[in-house]
Amino acid sequence: MVIIAQETSFDEAEMLELYDSVGWHPWTRDVARVCRSLANSHLVITARDETGKLLGLARTVSDDEIVCYVQELLVNAQHHGKGIGRRLLEHLKDRYAHCRYFVLTTDHESAPEGPANHAFYRRLDLIEHHEQGLSAFGLRVRDPRSL
Ligand SMILES: CC(C)(COP(=O)(O)OP(=O)(O)OC[C@H]1O[C@@H](n2cnc3c(N)ncnc32)[C@H](O)[C@@H]1OP(=O)(O)O)[C@@H](O)C(=O)NCCC(=O)NCCS
Repeated sequence: MVIIAQETSFDEAEMLELYDSVGWHPWTRDVARVCRSLANSHLVITARDETGKLLGLARTVSDDEIVCYVQELLVNAQHHGKGIGRRLLEHLKDRYAHCRYFVLTTDHESAPEGPANHAFYRRLDLIEHHEQGLSAFGLRVRDPRSL
């Protein structure tokens, strides 16, 4: 059984285990900052099993009217391929269905994790910006190794 629920307080050790399982080293280098970012998010949802073990997490930055930005969606690497990522993203799609923009940033398809992530998002009916005449811009990430 997988339980999806909103959470508002975050345990550093638990977050470290989750983010470490997917190799997100910029995040695991400063897990206190990760917990502050979670606390300051518009919404954080988790997936837990019946024992309470943390299996996955997703968070958003949003005005709850026009834009929902999905920042971070991850499932413990030992539990990939069980439909947990789908449950989390479907929950967010429903929650923010009234927003004009539902957007996120992920690795380019040419990056090591790119093909897997793109396949996942396409299965969930997301498309790339350029497929609807849009582009995404951003300042260059100053140090890709740290937050
Ligand atoms: C991407 C991620 C969230 C997917 O979560 P997951 O729980 O393993 O995915 P699910 O089991 O819910 O899969 C949902 C659908 O996507 C498809 N899918 C998932 N991973 C896939 C892959 N590597 N290749 C092809 N299809 C894939 C599944 O076949 C499934 O399709 P279906 O529901 O129609 O049968 C997870 O792999 C992850 O945490 N990766 C590391 C962190 C990351 O990169 N996050 C995303 C970038 S921000």
